[in-house]
Formats: sequence, C-alpha cells, structure tokens
Amino acid sequence: MERLMITGGSPLRGEIKVHGAKNSSLPLLAAAVLCRGETVLHNCPELSDVGAACEILSYLGCKVRRQGRSVVIDAADIRSHSVPEPLMREMRSSIVFLGAIAARAGQADLSFPGGCELGPRPIDLHLAGLKKLGLIIEEDRGRLLCRVDGRLKGAQIALSFPSVGATENILLAAATAEGRTVLTNAAREPEIIDLADFLNKCGAKISGAGEGTIVVDGVEALRGCEHRVIPDRIVAATYLSCAACTGGDILVTETEPVHLAGILPIFEEMGCAVKVEGKSIRLKAPARLRAAGDVRTMPYPGFPTDAQAPLMAAAAVAEGTSMFVENIFESRYKHAGELTRMGAKIKLEGRVAVVEGVPALHGAEVSCTDLRGGAALVAAGLAAEGETILREIHHLDRGYERIEEALTPLGAHIRRIAD
Ligand code: EPZ
Repeated sequence: MERLMITGGSPLRGEIKVHGAKNSSLPLLAAAVLCRGETVLHNCPELSDVGAACEILSYLGCKVRRQGRSVVIDAADIRSHSVPEPLMREMRSSIVFLGAIAARAGQADLSFPGGCELGPRPIDLHLAGLKKLGLIIEEDRGRLLCRVDGRLKGAQIALSFPSVGATENILLAAATAEGRTVLTNAAREPEIIDLADFLNKCGAKISGAGEGTIVVDGVEALRGCEHRVIPDRIVAATYLSCAACTGGDILVTETEPVHLAGILPIFEEMGCAVKVEGKSIRLKAPARLRAAGDVRTMPYPGFPTDAQAPLMAAAAVAEGTSMFVENIFESRYKHAGELTRMGAKIKLEGRVAVVEGVPALHGAEVSCTDLRGGAALVAAGLAAEGETILREIHHLDRGYERIEEALTPLGAHIRRIAD
C-alpha cells in the first residue's frame, strides 16, 4: 500500500491547474453507452473511479482507449447488459449506468451499489423514476434485474429530493424514450448541465438543465460526439483550502469560478482575499484565518457537501469557532477523528460539527477515511507543524490526479512512498 509523507509549515505559492471533473466524467462515460458511434471525452481526469467506469464500458462491449487527456469510446456494439458485482462494488456510483444500459439494450442486470463511507446510499429515487419511464425492475438477492417491454416511454417525474445521481439516471433513460419527460425538482449541479450539453451534442433534445425542471423530448437514437469535461469544482475548492490553511497565495487556473459561487464567500469570511480573473481564481490567505462561521451543506448552488471536509481542515487552524451542518449525507464526519489526532478540536453532534480553531496542528500518522476526508488530511498535513504520514491513499486517488505532484510545485513538501 502507498502512503503520503507530508511535512507541513510551508505556505503554498504559485499557480495550479484544475483537472476535469470526476463527477461529470462518470455520468458522461455512462452516457457513451447510448451513442451508436465514437465518443471523445476531452479533459477526462486520470482517476481510479474513471478507470473503473472504463472497465464497465469494456465489459459491456465498448472499445475504450485513453489518448492523453482524452478518453475515446466506441459503443457501436454493445454485447452485454450486465455489470458484474465486483465492478459494481469497485465504485458505488456505477448505478448511473443503469438508465443508459436499460435504454440501449432493453434490459439491465446490475447489483445494488451498497453503502459506502458516507453512510447508506439509497437508490429509491433512481428506481422510482426509472419505473415511471417503464423500466420493469425485479430485485433478486442484491441484484437489479431490469427489462423494458418495447421502448421506454416519457413521463412526468417529480423528485422528492434533488438527487444528482437520480437526475442523471433519469436523463440518460429519457433521452431515447418515446415522447416527453418532464423532471421536476431536478438536481441543478454543473455536472447535470454538462451531461445535458453532451447528450444534446449527441442528438438529444433536453432543455432546462441547471434549473429545477428539465424537459426531455425522446429521440430514436444518439450518435457519438466530442466533448470537453468541465473542470472539477471540488478539486479547485481543495486546492484553495490547502492555500488558505498554510497562509498561502495561489492562482488556481482552468476553473469555472461560477461553479464555486457557494464556496468562495466562505474563504472571504475567513479573511482570505479572493479574486476571480477569467477562468482563474486567486486566493491570498492571511497569516491566520478567521473562523468560517456557520457552514451548511446544501444542494447546488449552495455550499457543496464535497467541500465540507477540505474546508474543515482550514477551520481547524482558524481563530475562533466554526459550525458545520451536514445536510446531505448521514455520516460525513469520519475525517474529524483523524483531524483530532493532529490536534484539532472538533465536537460532533449528529449532523453538526463544532470546530474550535487551534493555533497549530501537529503532524501525526493518520488514515484517509474516504475521498474528501482524505483531502482534508492533506490540507491539515500541509498546515501542521512537523511530519504527517497519510495512509489508505487509494481513497484520494479516486478523485485527485496525483495530488502530491500537483501540490509540490506550490512549495508543498509532500511525497508518495510505497509501504
Ligand atoms: C453525487 O452523489 C456525487 N457523486 C457526490 O460526490 C456528491 O456528494 C453528491 O452527488 C451530492 O452532491 C457523483 O457524482 C459520482 P445524491 P449522489 O443522489 O448522486 C440521498 C464525491 O466526493 N438519496 O444527490 O449519490 C442520499 O442518500 C462524491 O465526489 C436518496 O435518499 O448524491 C444522500 O443523502 C461523494 N435516495 C442525498 O440524497 C436516492 O435514490 C444526496 O444524494 C438517491 C439519493
């Protein structure tokens, strides 16, 4: 197993580029299943979750190859409608393949994705929406055996919660359904807009993505297209947190600043000077941050749950007390225990975390608890006095492209070592 060796205390300074969004790449790779031809996804990040999605595509019969920063998928011949358990287990968000496989093949056989470090990850909203479109779903010993009588049919679907994954699955299934689908209370995340843009390039007729109501007029079939994946807003937020908690001064480039509209004000409240310059964001941190005040995670465009952990690392060394309320996931504070091992003062009470800032954290041996929890520990290690050993970094590699190579040019003392 690999680990990261981090020596803290150096302010991060310089310029850093953001790679393509993991949470856009995954539904886009699923969408490629619908395309009877070649699809090219540019700016597709080299992440283990992207690798897992490409494995699923290959298993289904697609020809998949990486060309530098792009992934090329030819889904002309789909020869399977089933995703084996180990592949489903490798990445819980594989459930986003369900709608696309069912729409393309007329049937689908996947397993329940199961829970993860963030708590139970139900898919009731996915299944209810897909059933409204005509998917017949039998649950058998953890497997979802799905079939379509004829062709999926457009429907009126209202989500009780603006689930990102459910919105994606419904869009993917509705794109080639017969007739109109109107989806209300849809997720508004930028990744939803990116998916709709991609599908429309492939010949779909989708309007309203990014708003609460999305309208899809089904078409017969989709062709391939070329598409550039949007930048990863959570990776951008993570880099900004690393600069904020080390008293740094960085320019994050190739971002979509508007995607961080719910995040940037928090850094300003903590005393950072934040300036948007075109596609770049400049953050200059004070010698010591002020507390973040109240941070409530919300569906987009609110403060994103994925940025909660990285920001908590910054709050841990701020002056004053910050309060986090995690409204999206049941159990998303596993990183708090590891931060406490580094000297952080964090009290948890259900969905609330109270962080009393300390003058300094100290290095320690800690483990990634999940993807974004791991990112929090990288930020904390960079801010801490002394050396931090970070284990279980496979979690990090799911969503951050070689994070140690990205941060080193900014003056971070961080290196990957084999155990
Ligand atoms: C996506 O997960 C992201 N993952 C998550 O990012 C992100 O945290 C989340 O959206 C919220 O923004 C990908 O895009 C691959 P949801 P998803 O469906 O689709 C409940 C990361 O770190 N819910 O919006 O699973 C669910 O339990 C990951 O990159 C139901 O109850 O999120 C959760 O409490 C972590 N029933 C809430 O909704 C359902 O059918 C949000 O889930 C579906 C969801």
